[in-house]
Amino acid sequence: MSVKGILLVGGKGTRLMPLTKHTPKPMLEVAGVPFTAHQLAKAKAAGITEIALATSYMADVFQPYFGDGSALGMKIHYAIETEALGTGGAIKNASKVLDLKPGDSVVIFNGDVLSGHDLKAQIDFHKNSKAAVTLFLTEVADARAFGCVPLDAEKNVLAFLEKMENPVTNLINAGCYIFDSSVFELIPSEIVISVERETFPDLLNRGLVVKGFVDLSYWLDIGTPAALITASKDLVMQKLISPATPKNDGFALIANDATLGKSTKISGGSVISKGVFIGDGCEIIGTIIFEGAKIGDNCRIISGIVAPNSKIPANTSTTSEIIGY
Ligand code: GDD
Ligand code: MG
Repeated sequence: MSVKGILLVGGKGTRLMPLTKHTPKPMLEVAGVPFTAHQLAKAKAAGITEIALATSYMADVFQPYFGDGSALGMKIHYAIETEALGTGGAIKNASKVLDLKPGDSVVIFNGDVLSGHDLKAQIDFHKNSKAAVTLFLTEVADARAFGCVPLDAEKNVLAFLEKMENPVTNLINAGCYIFDSSVFELIPSEIVISVERETFPDLLNRGLVVKGFVDLSYWLDIGTPAALITASKDLVMQKLISPATPKNDGFALIANDATLGKSTKISGGSVISKGVFIGDGCEIIGTIIFEGAKIGDNCRIISGIVAPNSKIPANTSTTSEIIGY
């Protein structure tokens, strides 16, 4: 009885355009490494060493980077959808490459969630409650953009209400599910299905035990530029510890070959990537500067994302989120 993983990394990342024009959302660097590296590290820390990446949009960039997973001490499979199958179809498709046995459990991760939740405790809760599915839930002030998940006193999921106008609770689907291996048989093959809008309501209609595991620690969906910047800063400043974050001083993460001008100050969890050149007298706060960008003298950039290989003119002062794209 083993625990394997599926990572959903096939979405288009529409809200992150133009950042996702040439890079899929899960491959965008957050605290110096592709976001997926943080999720793989989290999975591994919880004892998951075999995982399928469910890819669709720009599927071909994942494998050259992560390979067979041996560099991470994991076994990584790739389940590629030629046409995006939706979250449910992607889960079904990826389950086929995992060689599942009765009694196995599979942890399924949305590919854009950064969380400090206790995954080991979620797995234990799932096993002890003998649930078919266990959903990680968190609380947000405004649940309209999420899957709303009311529970009863025994933590049974009563309904799954994806993106509703008048949320019935602030408890939301936090994007990490555990499925008993028998559940995959209930999802049809090779058609577009939403796990949120179709599969979860279907499992509840069938009367299966679906539990909610509530954990209110750090949680963020990195699906917008502002959230991506926040995630990167929080990891560099160690508000959230990820084993995949490269070593840094807790103030900034600066590539060895970056060039910094005289009296230039970098702070607030900024990331200065490979080959970046920053002129004299600049102040860079809580900002991600992607590979090869050149920043002129006396620039002040706060909470932004600077495009790879872009040229930012001297004396630029900005608090825009997207710069040089
Ligand atoms: N392989 C594959 N194929 N992956 C997909 C597809 C697909 O067709 N569609 C979406 N995904 C992946 C995305 O890459 C992302 O990692 C994940 O599935 C969720 O998709 P999003 O587009 O980010 O959904 P969302 O943020 O609007 O809502 C989801 O996440 C919320 C938490 O952040 C839902 O699961 C909500 O219920 C949840 O509250
Ligand atoms: Mg999302």
